Amino acid sequence: MKHIDIHVPVAAMRDDELSDSDRTLVMKAREATYRAYAPYSNFHVGAAILLDNGEIVTGANQENAATPSGLCAERTAAFYAHATYPDAKFLTIAIAARDTSGAELKVPISPCGACRQVLLEFETLAQHDVKVILVGSDQCYMLESVRSLLPLSFTHFE
Ligand code: THU
Repeated sequence: MKHIDIHVPVAAMRDDELSDSDRTLVMKAREATYRAYAPYSNFHVGAAILLDNGEIVTGANQENAATPSGLCAERTAAFYAHATYPDAKFLTIAIAARDTSGAELKVPISPCGACRQVLLEFETLAQHDVKVILVGSDQCYMLESVRSLLPLSFTHFE
C-alpha cells in the first residue's frame, strides 16, 4: 500500500498585502454581499469574478421559499459571467460573506461542494489556473487554483 498526501497551498494575507487587482476584486465581493437575497438564512455571500476580457462580474446568494431552488453566490456569479461573456476565461474569483449579525466573517468561508465542481469546470475551460481568494475581515486565504479546493475531483475532460 502507498499513501498519497494531497497538499493544498494556502497563502494567508492581510488586505494591505494584496495586489491592487486582487484588492479591487475583494472589494467587489464584499459589496456584492449587500445584494444577497437571503431572508431565510440571513447569511449574505458575495462573489466577484475577474475575466480575461477585463470585466468583473459579481453575484450574491439568492434564496427561495422552495429551499433547494436557491443558489449560492459563487454559482450565481459564475453562470452569469459565462452567460454574458461566453468566450471569456475566468482569471480570479473572490468570495466574501457576512453572518446573521451583518458582520463580515473573520475567518473566510469556502465554497460548497457543488460550487467547487462548477468552478472547476470553468477552470478547465480556461485551460489555466483560476486563483481563488477567500475573504475574511482579518485575512484572505489565497489558493492558486480551483483544483486545489477540490482534490480527486470528478472530471470528464481528461
Ligand atoms: N452560500 C453561498 O452563497 N456560498 C457558499 O459558499 C456557502 C453558502 C449561501 C447559500 C445560502 O443562501 C446561505 O449561504 C446559507 O447557507
